Amino acid sequence: MKIFITGGAGYIGTHICVELLQTGYDIVVYDNLSNGSTEAIHQLKTITGKTAVLIIGDIRDEARMSEAMRGCDAVIHLAGLKAVGESVEKPLDYYDNNVHGTLCLLRAMQANNIKTLVFSSSATVYGDPVKLPFSESHPLQPTNPYGKTKLVIEDILRDLYHSDSKWKIVILRYFNPVGAHPSGLIGEDPLGIPNNLMPFIAQVAAGKHKFLNVYGDDYPTPDGTGVRDYIHIVDLAQGHVKALEALSVPQCTPINLGTGQGYSVLDLVKAFSNASGKEIPYEIVPRRAGDIAEFYADPSLAQKILKWSASKTLDDMCRDTWNFQSKIKCVPKSVGK
Ligand code: NAD
Ligand code: UD1
Repeated sequence: MKIFITGGAGYIGTHICVELLQTGYDIVVYDNLSNGSTEAIHQLKTITGKTAVLIIGDIRDEARMSEAMRGCDAVIHLAGLKAVGESVEKPLDYYDNNVHGTLCLLRAMQANNIKTLVFSSSATVYGDPVKLPFSESHPLQPTNPYGKTKLVIEDILRDLYHSDSKWKIVILRYFNPVGAHPSGLIGEDPLGIPNNLMPFIAQVAAGKHKFLNVYGDDYPTPDGTGVRDYIHIVDLAQGHVKALEALSVPQCTPINLGTGQGYSVLDLVKAFSNASGKEIPYEIVPRRAGDIAEFYADPSLAQKILKWSASKTLDDMCRDTWNFQSKIKCVPKSVGK
């Protein structure tokens, strides 16, 4: 089978490419490189011995994308913008890239008679927890434009399936993907100051920042700091291979990809310190606006439908992040992203 991967040159996409190539799929990556890396695509050959075709293009260029996907059997759709804070400041960019881009993709798929799709959604669609763990039936009330674009796309996919029951769609709701490929050749190397916890801790360990700001220690959690369901990027990527395998019958199914286990900010600090052998100095500062105290997945549907569950531990996530972080000190910056 040949898989068309939008956004395949990004952090999650490149890790999915590794798993697909290793499983024996052919792949075509379609990416505008606004946040992707050609170097990371080259690293796929080193890791897997196989190559991915890269076509540089925007998902909003429907004609180009339609041409690029000719001959493919299924699509994994990751392309889009993903920064929550930026989405509050630039909502139109988010609706245009994410929603308009997805409409172009779906029309191009129809034109090519490709009706098998795995879509990257986010746990952010749940919004503030009414009940934990988040199961797929939890109310969907995203609190920021980024999350709203994901919910709009999910709704479009549900409507599309109702209009034409030949579609085979899995909507994957990711929890907090972290870590890097164990080779250390691909990973996440955000431009500028990272917003997310794991990349920031990694940069503190690497000496790029003096200390970590811990956003609040007065939450109703065991140690007072925020709790999240961190999932190793390789586990997450393997979930996509399982999702493709599960798409033998028409459906439109949302599925959580998480571990079901929550860890606090201070749990991460401790685990990363152990993995890297570095002290991670931190300071407690006020809560970050819009943050939720605690959330984690009910991963049972993924186990049931995809026959998939996460197997890597928090220590694995920290070790592989540190391995990647240590290597980007001595290779060109563009290798990660
Ligand atoms: P990323 O920014 O590393 O990858 C996204 C890729 O899409 C980039 O390579 C970028 O160049 C490309 N892209 C963006 N807009 C495009 C467009 N209009 N046309 C073509 N290519 C375009 O992000 P990621 O972390 O790998 O996330 C991938 C997907 O997973 C996104 O849809 C994101 O919303 C979703 N997701 C990510 C997380 C996370 O924590 N990283 C969590 C939940 C969901
Ligand atoms: C964020 C996004 C979410 C996205 C997820 C991916 C927001 C509001 N949500 O979620 O849409 O899917 O990333 O991983 O941005 N923290 C610190 N210090 C820091 C950074 C974070 O203490 O420098 C704390 C936060 O308060 C939180 C935890 O670490 O308790 C995790 O934060 P982060 O990595 O940003 O992820 P989320 O907030 O869960």
